[in-house]
Amino acid sequence: MPFPVSRPRRLRATPALRRLVRETELSPSDFVMPYFVRPGKGEKRPIKSMPGHFQYSVDELVKAAGPLVQSGVPAVILFGIPDAKDSKASGAYAKDGIVQRAAAALKDRYPDLCVIADLCFCEYMDHGHCGIIKGERVLNDETLEFTAKTAVSQAKAGFDVIAPSGMMDGQVAAIRKALDAAGFAMTPILAYAAKYASAFYGPFRDAAESPPSFGDRSSYQMDPANFAEAMREIALDVDEGADMIMVKPALPYLDVLAAAKKRFGLPTSAYQVSGEFAMIKAAAANGWIDEKRVALESLTSIKRAGADFILTYYALEAARWLGA
Ligand code: PBG
Repeated sequence: MPFPVSRPRRLRATPALRRLVRETELSPSDFVMPYFVRPGKGEKRPIKSMPGHFQYSVDELVKAAGPLVQSGVPAVILFGIPDAKDSKASGAYAKDGIVQRAAAALKDRYPDLCVIADLCFCEYMDHGHCGIIKGERVLNDETLEFTAKTAVSQAKAGFDVIAPSGMMDGQVAAIRKALDAAGFAMTPILAYAAKYASAFYGPFRDAAESPPSFGDRSSYQMDPANFAEAMREIALDVDEGADMIMVKPALPYLDVLAAAKKRFGLPTSAYQVSGEFAMIKAAAANGWIDEKRVALESLTSIKRAGADFILTYYALEAARWLGA
């Protein structure tokens, strides 16, 4: 029916009507909070480029998670800054590794919290790459053995979900096989299925102290220009046994996210990465934008595009804004 019978503005006339016809609603249960954990005690070191975020020692992390749990956010994902880095990422699969201890402490204090393990080696390698290297090449198949070992170590530590982010081919299959063999058939895998070689990770690399010492990650993370390749990547991870998939970053890749949700139908997530967060924070600090509205608009857009849940540094703030 054309105008004047059709008048879309009719349904925008009052707040109550707008609420009634709203298609996408955020809730605290949509969020996963990323945390950075470091050795020590009583440590809470601010991350300069990510206002409000810290590198926590395990005891401080357990404290920080209290308000998050209170706010209704169901899950966290942990990144570790180990004591020492080496060429075999020993800290990633050490029994008393930093994220292993953090997960155990969190599960002990908050048994109902879903604790997700990021499985990657860049934070644990002296060269900062996400795999074993030879010269300046990042080796794929040689890395998988370590991937498998790390997944089992994380599951043993109490992690509820394993989320491989290294972008090695075959990593999901290697993890599924290793988990099943070790008695963790019920531990799900959240695959960073379409992870792009993105400049939006800048602040994270300071936070996790993980920048590559040479080259970049373009030989394993995806070219931002590619869409069809993302569909192939995700299809492979689904075939290898991914229970849930992720697209990362989020806002610049909503086309990929929407297509992934539609095509695969699996629980689908998106990672609003450090640079996305930092840009909003920086503009807001300058008084150029309304932080709350921009943050919630971004998160709503990510959900509208197809995300069932969102990894976001805004998890706590957004949960509070929504609750208020
Ligand atoms: C590890 C990893 C990175 C991020 C999550 N896992 C960094 C990278 O790939 O360089 C980025 C997250 C963020 O920017 O918030 N590979």
